[in-house]
Amino acid sequence: MAVTLTRMDDIAIATVENPPVNAVNYAVRQGLLEALVQTEADEEIRATILICAGRTFVAGADIREFGQPPKPPHLPDVITLLEGATKPWVAAIHGSALGGGLEIALGCHYRIATPSARLGLPEVTLGLIPGAGGTVRLPRLVAAETALDMITGGKPVAAPKALDSGLIDALADGDLQEAALRFARQRLGETLPLPLSAQSPNLPRDAEDWKTRQRRVLDRARGQAAPRAALEILDTALTAPAKEALEQERETFLRLKSHPESAALRHVFFAERAAGQLPRLKGAEPGPLDHIGIIGGGTMGAGITAACLLADLPVTMIERDTDACDAGRARVTDILDDAQRRGLIDASRHAALLSQLTTATDYAALAAADLVIEAVFEDMATKHAVFKALDTHTRPVCILASNTSYLDINEMARATAHPERIIGLHFFSPAHVMKLLELIVTDRASDRALATGLALGKRLRKLTVPAGVCDGFIGNRILSSYRRDTDAILQDGATPSQIDQAMRDFGFPMGIFEMQDLAGLDISWAMRKRRAATRDPDERYVDIADTLCEAGRLGRKTGRGWYLYTDGKTPIPDPEVEQIIAQSAEAAGITRRAFDPDEIITRILTAMQHEGQEILNENIAERASDIDVVMINGYGFPRWRGGPMYMAGHRDS
Ligand code: 3HC
Ligand code: NAI
Repeated sequence: MAVTLTRMDDIAIATVENPPVNAVNYAVRQGLLEALVQTEADEEIRATILICAGRTFVAGADIREFGQPPKPPHLPDVITLLEGATKPWVAAIHGSALGGGLEIALGCHYRIATPSARLGLPEVTLGLIPGAGGTVRLPRLVAAETALDMITGGKPVAAPKALDSGLIDALADGDLQEAALRFARQRLGETLPLPLSAQSPNLPRDAEDWKTRQRRVLDRARGQAAPRAALEILDTALTAPAKEALEQERETFLRLKSHPESAALRHVFFAERAAGQLPRLKGAEPGPLDHIGIIGGGTMGAGITAACLLADLPVTMIERDTDACDAGRARVTDILDDAQRRGLIDASRHAALLSQLTTATDYAALAAADLVIEAVFEDMATKHAVFKALDTHTRPVCILASNTSYLDINEMARATAHPERIIGLHFFSPAHVMKLLELIVTDRASDRALATGLALGKRLRKLTVPAGVCDGFIGNRILSSYRRDTDAILQDGATPSQIDQAMRDFGFPMGIFEMQDLAGLDISWAMRKRRAATRDPDERYVDIADTLCEAGRLGRKTGRGWYLYTDGKTPIPDPEVEQIIAQSAEAAGITRRAFDPDEIITRILTAMQHEGQEILNENIAERASDIDVVMINGYGFPRWRGGPMYMAGHRDS
């Protein structure tokens, strides 16, 4: 039974139990309907508490059912009946009330939630709009502006904020069910509030401000259909009779459900949950994570340190000398200062976190470490020296990880006394912000070492994707591959700004040349020089990037790269670059021609998909959808397109 009905004297308690997240499927809809019929018929019952078993309130409609035709009773109908009940229903919320879950709560007469609960309408993140009355009832309960933010942004709000906005009526003090029972009893003599759909909507406070908010949504949405549809339906909800708005909402929901954008976003939803599952680790026990060591306090070392501190993991950072220790500490402090400025931590937490950071030049400070991550210069000799020192100074049970971008971690492992404890943990910059983490599975890594890496990813709330050892692992390998191709497109006739514009129009936040300018051109230049000796002589090699670097054009930091930067941040197409490109084409005997955006994107996608297929053939990635997760979360591939492998027709999750 997905919904069970019990009694506490004259109050009924309807408990939804559909693990793991009480998603609304046919059984829940049917169970709710039966509970409603029974409570209405039973004259002794004066009110009903709707509560959920397990870790959360209803977290939405069951996304797994979305591929099938809807089966009655439909959720909108159940909620309309709920809203029309003659005795009060009180939604008692813990965990997350999301999507259809919040819509059910909006159908109840009152809402009470634990202080840690979160409430939201995340449908837009699945390429949808709320499909069970959310767009109509929410602006009748809270301000139109709050409704717009929740419906078009998809971000859940915390219960205290929900109380301020009027979304819930009370915060539960102590036990949720007890608090809900007390709340219901207090309401027993009162007149039942009008159903939300029978109330008038809260209209926008200021027409100009409303337009600005709408424009902001459309700007952020770029090519996506759902946010645009959400705005349109919200307009209807504010202007048309509720019944008409509800019908229109349902129609739009059903139309979007079968739109490719929603199918792609649902693929990503499940792909992100499948990532990080390594079958060989079933039952493997991770080691402890009480004390983390970080070698190197540069860009990555400082970011990883901050991420660990923010997850309440004490860190010892090793640097080359005391000045470098101070610089590393200063970088970490900057990151925490920024977190404080943005209200993520307060001054006392800032101080408490910094007190958990120790810096040292002597590896002996790592004697008690459980896991050490090196983030020193990208140079094999330096990495070897670091692992040698770690061999001597850490306990054999301590897991050792490299954050290298491209170097062979198997080679690093072979040079140590315990290769089974060496893994890769490839963070992305800025490491305290980016959600992606590649867990590099070295040839001899033990299950315990890998399970510990996964456990760290979980603790840092990262999306951890396993990858085998190869040049660039999953993400950087694909990036190198399509970067080679975009350089070739340049030589063949396009300009950097045409390629960047095509990528932005496709949905990337920035194009590949702007991105390189931001990151600096020198790192990949060093990598190309390192690989020069082993490069296949038959492979097409485009020298444009090398010429730029030789001319001192290293990106934004030098004011010039693929573009010119007069204000340090706005890319301006530079005739000097176009000349370098033209000269390179002439030297290669290429007659340049025009490219249209579709051809550019097709070339880029094909390069990504081809490299992705090679990665699968070599078992570097566990599953095709892991490649999608990496490209979306690490390289700006538009989520609503599902990822390059999904676009190529792979369906393995
Ligand atoms: N339908 C089906 N399965 C769901 C689900 C849903 N709505 N939400 C979560 N799950 C599954 C996950 O796939 C996962 O399954 P697995 O264990 O087999 O991998 C399991 O539940 C646990 O999920 P998480 O790993 O995400 O657990 P967390 O504790 O990290 O997060 C959560 C819980 C915050 C509820 C998160 O799962 C979430 O955000 N879920 C999606 C919520 C959502 O988008 N709801 C709206 C759905 S659309 C809708 O309601 C339409 C309506 O308007 C008609
Ligand atoms: P960085 O140059 O900013 O920092 C390196 C730090 O290591 C410096 O502070 C240096 O003093 C220190 N260091 C060097 N040798 C040391 C030693 N023997 N002992 C202790 N400290 C030492 O470099 P960055 O960018 O942080 O990169 C570090 C590693 O992370 C590299 O392997 C790089 O490939 C990798 N990486 C870099 C990314 C990026 O975007 N910058 C992204 C992902 C990985």
